[in-house]
Amino acid sequence: MKFFLDTANIDEIKRISKLGLVDGVTTNPSIIAKEGRNFEEVIKEICSIVEGPVSAEVIGLKATEMIKEGREIAKWAPNVIVKIPMTEEGLEAVYTLEAENIKTNVTLVFSVAQGLMAAKAGASFISPFVGRIDDIGEDGMKLIKNLRQTLVNYEFKSEIITASIRTIGHLEQAAIAGADIATIPGSLLPKLWKHPLTDNGIEQFLNDWKSVTDKENN
Ligand code: G3P
Repeated sequence: MKFFLDTANIDEIKRISKLGLVDGVTTNPSIIAKEGRNFEEVIKEICSIVEGPVSAEVIGLKATEMIKEGREIAKWAPNVIVKIPMTEEGLEAVYTLEAENIKTNVTLVFSVAQGLMAAKAGASFISPFVGRIDDIGEDGMKLIKNLRQTLVNYEFKSEIITASIRTIGHLEQAAIAGADIATIPGSLLPKLWKHPLTDNGIEQFLNDWKSVTDKENN
């Protein structure tokens, strides 16, 4: 399973990259806005740090606008991916850009039907938002399982990015369901590697070790 970071924070990306956990990065307009920096500048900087795919989202809603923006974004770096919302206009943009070898990530996917449309249009990546589905009282992980099965059934090349991950359970269930990628907010990461029994175990080992060395020194 590949791990993407769902952030545009450079310090966070550099820190987590040192752990070998960053296969790519996803952003969206809200994430970019949090950094208070120029969109193009921040995406170019991320692309220079991370070798894998880096998603940058278009703002236009018309296919012609998205295609124009997508062509421009694609010039910023070889590993940049054009993120496009799941609409009719978006599908047209995906189909056109992918035909020009510009990779796309279809975002805001909430149903198998939407995922299937994105795959048919030729999207390289599809981003179902599990957390936001749970927010409305439905089961986000069910979508991951069912979309995964659908793509396998017809051998689509699109990779599933499990997005809007909020909990350790989301990540674990996405892995079990066979999602290609999980995009994880930086705030969740420490919870993934931390466990109270690990911390207790370290403390106990160090205390036992100290009692041996204290005896030796007395
Ligand atoms: O990758 C999509 C993600 O950024 C959305 O997450 O928590 O805003 O639903 P969230």
